[in-house]
Amino acid sequence: MRTVTVEPASAPAYEVRVGAGAAESFAPDCARVIGHEPGRLFAAVDEGVPDAFVRRVVGAFSGAGYAVTEHRVRATERTKSLETLGELLGAIAGAGLERRDPVLAIGGGIVGDVAGFAAASYRRGVPVIQCPTTLLSMVDASVGGKTGVNLTVRTGEDPDGGEALLKNMAGAFHQPRAVLADVSSLDSLPDRHLRAGLAECVKHGLIAGDWGDAGLADWLAGAIPGVLARDRATLVECVARNVAVKARVVKADETEQSSTGGRALLNLGHTFAHAIETIPTLSPDADPAHAPLHHGEAVAIGLVGASACAAAMGLVDASHTERTIGALRACGLPVSVGGLPDDETLIARMRHDKKAAGGVLRLTLPTGPASTALVSDPPLDAVRAGWRAVRR
Ligand SMILES: NC(=O)c1ccc[n+]([C@@H]2O[C@H](COP(=O)([O-])OP(=O)(O)OC[C@H]3O[C@@H](n4cnc5c(N)ncnc54)[C@H](O)[C@@H]3O)[C@@H](O)[C@H]2O)c1
Repeated sequence: MRTVTVEPASAPAYEVRVGAGAAESFAPDCARVIGHEPGRLFAAVDEGVPDAFVRRVVGAFSGAGYAVTEHRVRATERTKSLETLGELLGAIAGAGLERRDPVLAIGGGIVGDVAGFAAASYRRGVPVIQCPTTLLSMVDASVGGKTGVNLTVRTGEDPDGGEALLKNMAGAFHQPRAVLADVSSLDSLPDRHLRAGLAECVKHGLIAGDWGDAGLADWLAGAIPGVLARDRATLVECVARNVAVKARVVKADETEQSSTGGRALLNLGHTFAHAIETIPTLSPDADPAHAPLHHGEAVAIGLVGASACAAAMGLVDASHTERTIGALRACGLPVSVGGLPDDETLIARMRHDKKAAGGVLRLTLPTGPASTALVSDPPLDAVRAGWRAVRR
């Protein structure tokens, strides 16, 4: 078992346990970590996670003395919603959770985000333990305390048919008390989702020079076959190394206040990604049956867009974009997409992103092989060059 410690400024430090059997190893320590004897525990469980894994995790907590209530959650961006949040809150109340009884989120980033938000708001905050079961949620979403849901707004003119889904627009910072990343759960994860998780790893490689791991991108390039083959040791190293980068960023700027970047640098590629990932017709490989894009796929395309935008501004040269494309292709990720709306629609959608301040675009852009900066109000021609680079 590998352990990475996260030290947020506003909440107790917590462990990310990485390895097969992470939940079984943690359950007997749970009461000590939370500072409250075992009582009730509410498990919000992703419908996609196989029952055998859920039984193992829930069994570990029952064995440690918890009375567990299980509630299954459907994981789609449409169900990452206020409705699901309401259902969860009702179920948590129905299970009789008290102030120090934990919520356990078992699943991918969607379930982790919405269950985390439920834990943040139920009785103004009960402990949450994240048990991520996708690569993306292990390396990124489960760590750092961002929780939330998407909102739906009527726009009248959007490519979504007049109803735009705004990503993560309502939420709270609520740090977990522990993160239990059992890489054996990835055995059942479909390939496409495993690859999507690699997009966030490529992203970490592109920022990690400023965060203590300049060699991450090169290491990842060699590790991709092992990750895709689900080699346990490679997965453990991959998750632990990526989490260590995120932990350093969270320690420096937990709630994204830094004006020079800080946690916002983790959004590399994301403003481009958020503009396209909620368009229901976009597909990673031109097959409409594969629409919509998954979050990690949109991030992959967004990383290319951000790199091309930075190249158009002279922040990096064109080789940065070529290297980024090479790294993403090696993971089997899309680097361009067909059927995009026109540039002005895309730029308007980027302005909806919550990273925008006063309607002014703020983009995290690469400034070197493994470094980034936050850029306010980038020239729109450069943003258009970013979109041009990813149009198929
Ligand atoms: N909070 C954060 O800091 C943060 C960071 C990055 C991304 N996110 C959010 O995370 C979400 C994406 O997360 P994701 O990529 O994990 O996708 P996801 O939650 O949609 O899960 C992907 C799919 O895999 C299924 N699944 C989950 N675990 C499985 C397993 N072990 N075996 C088989 N199937 C399994 C799910 O049911 C789902 O169908 C997005 O909503 C994104 O906004 C949040």
